[in-house]
Amino acid sequence: MIEDPHTKPMIGHAAVIKVPAVKNDGIATYGIDNSVDRLLPFQVRRVFYIFDTPSHAFRGGHSHFESHELIVALHGSFTVELYDGDRRLSQRLNKPNEGLFVPPGIWREMTEFTRGAVCMVLSSIEYSEDDYVRDYRKFLELTSCKRPWLPRKDIRF
Ligand code: TYD
Repeated sequence: MIEDPHTKPMIGHAAVIKVPAVKNDGIATYGIDNSVDRLLPFQVRRVFYIFDTPSHAFRGGHSHFESHELIVALHGSFTVELYDGDRRLSQRLNKPNEGLFVPPGIWREMTEFTRGAVCMVLSSIEYSEDDYVRDYRKFLELTSCKRPWLPRKDIRF
């Protein structure tokens, strides 16, 4: 039985990962794969993207049991707020050649999008609603919240 990542201090594993570019005639191509250099600490099973975002867009507002993810700002920029029930991390993403690795067990919110920003997410699992914790109160219970943080998601206690 796999231990629930919500019970562990996961935020220390979150990291910005640089994506290497191949340049031809000044045009850069970025490739992310699971080959020898092990750029990613997980195997990619799914890619999804969010586009046409207005600047007031709010995305995320959940954690995962299993999904390891890499979040990339392919165009424009946005802020990713992470919280594991103890520590917080706020990371502005604004380059197509870097991604934020987010392991499971972490509440994430994406805010402050520039208009038309494009967010791409690589995930280690296929889509399953069962993998989501969307209820912030449940997240606080699962993490046995050590240091409280009030998310931007409109939570009414
Ligand atoms: P959600 O994960 O809540 O989006 P975000 O984290 O960007 O706020 O997903 C929004 C909707 O899209 C939800 O009904 C689930 C669905 N969905 C899929 O069908 N497949 C997917 O791969 C993803 C990420 C979401």
